[in-house]
Amino acid sequence: MSIRKKQPGDTIAREQWGSKLAFILAAAGSAVGLGNIWKFPYVTGQYGGGAFVLVYLVMVLMIGVPVMIAELTLGRTSEKNPVGAYGFINPKWKLAGFLNVAAPFLILSYYSVVAGWTIAYMVRTFSGSLAKVAPEQMADVFVGFISSSGEPVLWHGVMVLLTVGIVISGVKAGIERWVKVLMPALFIILLALVARSLTLDGAAEGLGFYLRPDFSKLSGEAILVALGQAFFSLSLGMGAMITYGSYLAKKENIPSAAISVSLVDTLVALLAGAAIFPAVFAFGFEPGQGAGLVFITLPAVFAAMPFGNIFGALFFLLLSIAALTSTISLLEVVVAYLVDERKYDRKKAALTVGTLVFILGVPASLSQGILSDVTIFGKSFFDFLDYITSNIMLPLGGLFITIFVGWVWGIDKALKQITNEGTLAFAFAGIWSFIIRYVAPVAIIIVFLRSLEII
Ligand code: TRP
Repeated sequence: MSIRKKQPGDTIAREQWGSKLAFILAAAGSAVGLGNIWKFPYVTGQYGGGAFVLVYLVMVLMIGVPVMIAELTLGRTSEKNPVGAYGFINPKWKLAGFLNVAAPFLILSYYSVVAGWTIAYMVRTFSGSLAKVAPEQMADVFVGFISSSGEPVLWHGVMVLLTVGIVISGVKAGIERWVKVLMPALFIILLALVARSLTLDGAAEGLGFYLRPDFSKLSGEAILVALGQAFFSLSLGMGAMITYGSYLAKKENIPSAAISVSLVDTLVALLAGAAIFPAVFAFGFEPGQGAGLVFITLPAVFAAMPFGNIFGALFFLLLSIAALTSTISLLEVVVAYLVDERKYDRKKAALTVGTLVFILGVPASLSQGILSDVTIFGKSFFDFLDYITSNIMLPLGGLFITIFVGWVWGIDKALKQITNEGTLAFAFAGIWSFIIRYVAPVAIIIVFLRSLEII
C-alpha cells in the first residue's frame, strides 16, 4: 500500500483498494443497479432495439468513459471526497462538491425504498405466494404492497442496515470484501437466468422485440435518452466515481479502469434484457415498462414458468444485489465527506448517515400510500426526490465536472495525473481533452434543458 504525502490535519493514511480488480468490481457494482435491469431493457425495446443499443454504445464510449476518467482523476489526485476534491484544486468550487454529496444522500433515501421492494418480492416469489395471484391481479397486489405503511418501510430499513453494515467496516474490510462476493454472484445468477430465458419455446420473438434494429425509431429524442441513461447507469455526476477514485493507487491506469467498468456495466444491461424479454414473450405477456415490467409483468411470467419460484427468487435476488452494491457507493460518498471534512470516525459517520437516510426514506415510502396527497411542486415526495436528483442534480454534477476539469483545473494538469507524469501512455489524450472541454458540456446542457422541458 502506498502512503500519500502527509498533509496538515492528517492522522492516518487513506485506505486504498487492494487491487485493480477490487476497484473495478466496486465501481462496476456502483454502476450496475436498478437502472441496468429495469430501465435499460425497456428503453431499448422502446427506442429501436439494436439501433438504440448502437447509439447507447456510442454515448458510453464518447461521453460516459471520458467523464468517468475525469471523475476518477479528480478523486485520485485529491485523495478526497467530492467536497474535498473540488476544494483541493480550487476552494471556490467547493459548492459543486456539495452538490455531489447531497445528491447521493437524497438518492439513497428513495433508492433503498425500491431496493426494499425487491427484497420483499424475492421472499414472495420464493414462498410461492405470488404464484397464486392471477396475472390480472398482479398490478393490484403490487400497488397494494407499496402503498401499505408497514412492510415497505421495514424492508427499506433492512436495506439501509445492510448498507451501513458493509460501509462501516471500511474500504477494504467492508466494501471490497463484499463486492468480491456479490459481483461474481450477480454474474452467475444473471447468466443462469439468460440461459433459462433463451431456451424457452418462443424466446426468439422476445429477443426480436428487444434487439431487432429499427432505425425509424431513432429520433433525436432516442439519442438524448441514450445519453441520459448512460450517465445514470455509469453512476456519473454524483460524486461516486470521484470518491471511489480517491482510493485508487497512483500506479493504476485510469483510462483502462474506466473502460473496464463501463464494459461490465453495459454487458450487464444487455444481458438483463436477454433474460427478461424472451421470457415475457414466451409466456404471451406484453412487456410493461419500468417498475411495472419488473414488479407486475415478471411475477406473472414466473408464476407461469416451471420452477418459477426458484427463477423468480433468483431474479429478485439479482436485483437486490445490484441495488445493494449501488447503495454501498452512495453511502460511501457521504461517509467519506464526513470522515475527511468533518473528522467523524467512520463508524459514527456511517451510523449517522444511515439513520438520516432511513428517516428521509420513510416519507418517500409512505408517499406511495397514506402520504400520496402531500405533494411538492405537484409531485409526491418520492417522485420529487427522483426528479431533483436524476433530472437536475445529476446533469448539473456532470456539467460541473467537465467544466472544472476542462477549464478550471486545467486539462494539462489533469492529463499529467492520468498519465502518471508521462509514464503511462494515453493514446486518446487529444480526443479526451476535446470531449471534456467541448463535446460533453454541450451534450449535457442539451439533455438538461430537454429534461426541464425547456427545449
Ligand atoms: N448507476 C445506478 C443504476 O444503474 C444508479 C446510480 C446513479 C447510482 N447514480 C449513482 C448509484 C451514484 C450509485 C451512485 O441503477
